[in-house]
Amino acid sequence: MCGIVGYSGPITVSNKPLEVCLQGLSRLEYRGYDSAGVACVGPHMDQVALDKKAGRLSVLEEDLKLHPLPEAQVCIGHTRWATNGEPNDTNAHPHLSKDHKIAIIHNGIIENAVRLKFELQSEGYSFTSQTDSEVAAKLLGRIANVIIEETGKPNLFEAMRRLGKMLDGTFAILAVDVRQPDVVCAIRRDEPLVLGLGDKETFLASDVTAFISYTKHALEIGQDNAVMVQGDTIVVTDFDGNKVTPKEFTVDWDASAVEKSGWDSFMKKEIHEDPAAVRETLMSRFDLDGNIKLDEVHIDEKLFKTIDRIVIIGCGTASYAGQVAKYAIEHWVRIPVEVILSHEFRYSDPILTPQTLVVAISQSGETMDTLMAIRHAREQQATVLSICNTQGSSIPRESDAVLYTHAGPEIAVASTKAFVAQITAEYLLGLYLAQVKGTLFHDEINGILSSLRAIPEKIDWILKHDSESIQDVAQKLVSQQTFLFLGRNVGYPVALEGALKLKEIAYTFTQGCAAGELKHGPIALIEENVPVIVIVPSACDRNVLHSKVISNIEEVKARGAYTIAIAEEADPDVERYADVIFWRPQCPTLVSPLVDVVPLQLFALYMAEAKQLDVDKPRNLAKSVTVE
Ligand code: F6R
Repeated sequence: MCGIVGYSGPITVSNKPLEVCLQGLSRLEYRGYDSAGVACVGPHMDQVALDKKAGRLSVLEEDLKLHPLPEAQVCIGHTRWATNGEPNDTNAHPHLSKDHKIAIIHNGIIENAVRLKFELQSEGYSFTSQTDSEVAAKLLGRIANVIIEETGKPNLFEAMRRLGKMLDGTFAILAVDVRQPDVVCAIRRDEPLVLGLGDKETFLASDVTAFISYTKHALEIGQDNAVMVQGDTIVVTDFDGNKVTPKEFTVDWDASAVEKSGWDSFMKKEIHEDPAAVRETLMSRFDLDGNIKLDEVHIDEKLFKTIDRIVIIGCGTASYAGQVAKYAIEHWVRIPVEVILSHEFRYSDPILTPQTLVVAISQSGETMDTLMAIRHAREQQATVLSICNTQGSSIPRESDAVLYTHAGPEIAVASTKAFVAQITAEYLLGLYLAQVKGTLFHDEINGILSSLRAIPEKIDWILKHDSESIQDVAQKLVSQQTFLFLGRNVGYPVALEGALKLKEIAYTFTQGCAAGELKHGPIALIEENVPVIVIVPSACDRNVLHSKVISNIEEVKARGAYTIAIAEEADPDVERYADVIFWRPQCPTLVSPLVDVVPLQLFALYMAEAKQLDVDKPRNLAKSVTVE
């Protein structure tokens, strides 16, 4: 959701704190983009200097050119995805204390804000915004003044700790105070916060993308921790003031990964990184004999042997990656795999035992629904393994073990390369389980691994051969209002994913459905020229499945549908019935989702481009959904 960034540098004042924060915000804008703001503090300031504007970051940047802020020693910045109060200048962050000596930015939801506001109002405080965050700002101002009365000097760090204890809900809050002009303080609960370690300077942010051009060395800030940063001095404590040693990590990608590098959009760039995402996720996970080694996971092989059921949790695209893996893992390991949406998991009272492996899938590692589901699973004694793309994020930290996908940072709001990386990681896990449980022979595992290793080249083939025709079809269909996506078996979750991509970035009504379900209802939607996109399985590998899907194409065609097939090269049956075909190279059915999804990602991209929409930042969405 919201993105937060902060900077504390050397003692001298300069424009750098503001520059760092604006650059950080431009990198974090994918987290929310309905308003943005910054606050600066330097010596001899009586009140915090700030600017904030509704709209994209560019609106704020234009305003800062007209009304420059003074040079400063520290700065904090915020890009918002509104939860409390509509997106306007007043509700934008930072928010100020009553005396304007303190400013805060906040990501999260303060659940007891109404009661706290009422108490402050009864003491004469007034509020200008509709946000819960302003309540935290006013309360922090009051606590800071009490501390000055008690001790005779300002102590923002202690004030933040006291604030942390008083707030219910979720928060990552950064604060600055004109009475300590070289200090930035932070508190966090259930919202992301990492620190970047620079040379005589420290960066604070929702994720490392904000400061990756300055440093790759970072600290994970733990749950209910408070931080004081002054240049390169960092103190971390719990809310009672006990010192805490945060975990250090080094980011394994560079700044170029978060640049568009000549592409029109991050989404286009990231689709073209699908092959690398699969390749990198497969890399370094084998011993010299070709056996799968998941040492990094740190779960005893003996425990893996006892696992008798898997529950996969995730949201949106991540849950569809889970649905794909269900087919493969059940087939290879012969244990039941259930896929549950994270936000339904807790409330469905799931049956979990110590022999249940819960696999939590998340690109961002911060999806609150998934985080809450993990906590519930661990309370019920299940083992939780997360599949995650983001180092230093909350989900791997709160899991028993983690298997990282190596897709590199995903910036476009619509997930693409993370999907193929997630399937690859789940397949590695499934094959590893088959290896330790002995449900597949060594050569069978090797055969599947060879098909997986061949995938990047096949995706490259699609990107090279299909892009132009997909773009032409998208342009032709740009004014269509409804799209139906059909698939069977592993093609079904791919259909769901294709439908989600088109819906979220091209604002087209889409329905993804199991092809067999068509005649039980959705076929009523078919009329003349309604486009139906069908994922056709390989005729060689799964003949029965293939002929059933061909029948489905005939059924919709007979009712006037315009049919688009994603099919294996030189499939004569498809040629007979489909109006348009996006070919893909041959591959076994179970690994085909890794290639079948690519034309669908491109189709959504080209539809959104044809409609002249911002493909990277679709309306109402944010990349990382850190509220429930
Ligand atoms: C769709 C999309 C979302 C995410 C979902 C989970 O393109 O990006 O559906 O897949 O919000 O996010 P993560 O994987 O970060 O937990």
